Amino acid sequence: MSKQLNIGLFGFGVVGKGLYDVLHHTPAFQSSIKKICIKNVHKPRAIAAENFTSHAAVLLEDEGINVIVELIDDADAAFEIVKKALQNGKAVVSANKKMIAEHFEELFKLQQKHKVPFLYEASCCASMPIIRNLEEYYDNDLLNSFRGIINGSTNFILTKIFKEQLDFDKALLLAQQAGFAESNPQLDVGGFDAADKLSILLAHSFGVIAKKEQFIFNGIENIALQDAMVAKGRGWKIKLVASAQKLKDGKLAAFVLPRFVTEGDDLFNVENEFNGLITESSFADKHFFKGKGAGAFPTASAVLSDISALRYDYKYEYKKIFHQTDTVLTNDFYLKVFVSVDDFTKIKRTEFEWVEEWHNEFKHSWLIGTIHAAKLAADDWWKQPGISLIACPDAIVEDVDYRKISQRSLELAGVV
Ligand SMILES: NC(=O)c1ccc[n+]([C@@H]2O[C@H](COP(=O)([O-])OP(=O)(O)OC[C@H]3O[C@@H](n4cnc5c(N)ncnc54)[C@H](OP(=O)(O)O)[C@@H]3O)[C@@H](O)[C@H]2O)c1
Repeated sequence: MSKQLNIGLFGFGVVGKGLYDVLHHTPAFQSSIKKICIKNVHKPRAIAAENFTSHAAVLLEDEGINVIVELIDDADAAFEIVKKALQNGKAVVSANKKMIAEHFEELFKLQQKHKVPFLYEASCCASMPIIRNLEEYYDNDLLNSFRGIINGSTNFILTKIFKEQLDFDKALLLAQQAGFAESNPQLDVGGFDAADKLSILLAHSFGVIAKKEQFIFNGIENIALQDAMVAKGRGWKIKLVASAQKLKDGKLAAFVLPRFVTEGDDLFNVENEFNGLITESSFADKHFFKGKGAGAFPTASAVLSDISALRYDYKYEYKKIFHQTDTVLTNDFYLKVFVSVDDFTKIKRTEFEWVEEWHNEFKHSWLIGTIHAAKLAADDWWKQPGISLIACPDAIVEDVDYRKISQRSLELAGVV
């Protein structure tokens, strides 16, 4: 690819405008935005109207444009744009996790077929460079697990609720006003966005191509104030955490759930729109990454870094997909969870292998127990209004004590 990059930019919202501003603050950068495609031509813009078009083909068919930067908020339209750009031999940079996660396999094949780079660092943790680290650094050192806060807006909301005692709606509004939230905030608070990101990270870390429907995920909507009181009482915080861990049988456990985080945990002080991720590997032991996971400039900085990487023809090699072909995603593991309800009849106690704690308070009953992940994957009783399920700090239970299970079975059967 020529070192001079001529960019066709799709989207001029929070991130698109952010990128425009960042590019104009780095004049030494050998690239220029030739045209910008937006949806609504009548919207007032900060720059002259001749920069814009609403016709995608103007950018996609322009042979003078060699890079398409896709920063729109419509995943279906984004997929068509990216597909066409790759087919036309243009390099592509995107921040659209929903689009990438939902079409990962097809996008992967398109890159192989057309031999053009497709980079998307900003899609996972905005300014925190995690995809390229997973691709390059953990190339030889075997990764055993990672877990992290990978959605900036829910972390911002949880911080505002628990640190500043704001109510949920006010905290969400602040996240939207700051440009942290998705256009459809349900994608954030329902856990869909973090699950899409986990799906992308699984491919780059363990070579597993999986859609979010294949693992357990939930968001933060059902977390109750009383849950925060329980957390506070034990010196914990509640964070939305994405986790992936190689089990003893070599299979991969993955999930996104609200999770109690202890004070000694690196994720404990990851607040507001920051993201944080801890990797554990065979030789390096632990790494902790932290960076801004949302917002115009932090996200634009990751997009800029991808554009810059195109100047030296960087592309993802997907080594884990090609070489770690034996890693299989599984829901065959146990999870230690806290479940609270506004009405104790809503808890499916018989689903649990065993229950360690059971508290029955007025309009707030809760338990801590161990449940098989496949049972959570098969049924969504635990996602219903009035029920909140939070993973415990030591969430994955590998060594199941069958004596406890049989004791529990006897109790459930009313024998003891
Ligand atoms: N905001 C963040 O902190 C953040 C962080 C990481 C990743 N991202 C990702 O970055 C992308 C953009 O997010 P954003 O926050 O910048 O969204 P946004 O502020 O809502 O802006 C969306 C832009 O996309 C344009 N658009 C929508 N549909 C289009 C279409 N079919 N063709 C051309 N343009 C179209 C809109 O045009 P009009 O201006 O005409 O309405 C608008 O300029 C999303 O994929 C998001 O998930 C965002």
